[in-house]
Amino acid sequence: MSLLDLAPVIPVVVIDDVARAVPLARALLAGGLPVIEVTLRTPCATAAIERIAAEVPDAIVGAGTVRTPDDVAACVRAGARFLVSPGTTPDLVEAMLDSGLPFLPGAATVSEVMALAERGLHEQKFFPAEAAGGVPYLKALAGPIPDVRFCPTGGIGPRNAPQYLALPNVGCVGGSWLTPADAIAAGDYGRIEKLAREAAALR
Ligand code: 3PG
Repeated sequence: MSLLDLAPVIPVVVIDDVARAVPLARALLAGGLPVIEVTLRTPCATAAIERIAAEVPDAIVGAGTVRTPDDVAACVRAGARFLVSPGTTPDLVEAMLDSGLPFLPGAATVSEVMALAERGLHEQKFFPAEAAGGVPYLKALAGPIPDVRFCPTGGIGPRNAPQYLALPNVGCVGGSWLTPADAIAAGDYGRIEKLAREAAALR
């Protein structure tokens, strides 16, 4: 499975209340986005992954903000189907390789991209996309490193996503704009479904 080809957008979500996890995943799925990245930024993140994996079988739920080998182990236990990291350390890349799960290791510089490609990792997260150089940076990478494809994330929204998606070395983009904190808190899943539908139509 290529994580970059499942959907034009990977929703990056922060879940504070585990009770929101299943309806949130169902709303994204109903809007046409089957992939959901639950960030390990809240105490209930792995419980949320577990619930979505158990109750929304058509969703492909993974973990984001994976930073340590312990994080990897917790995500595997929770039933995550993929892993995403903001950056990559030697220990983390070993743990992600050992997990047997597909993953997008984070990179932001040419040397980081090359080091990962050297390990055979040709699909990476480009983070923080806008701050690290955005569309012109990725365009410049495509010349010397045409064999690495990215999921840029960080500062991307409906306004600039199309420019990223038009690049030959971008498979999909990631972002938190589909799941605004106020919509989650209010249980406004209709709004989330609508945002997902608009994002699914981006490509
Ligand atoms: C991530 O973890 O990938 C980013 O925090 C998401 O970035 P965004 O909030 O700017 O979309």
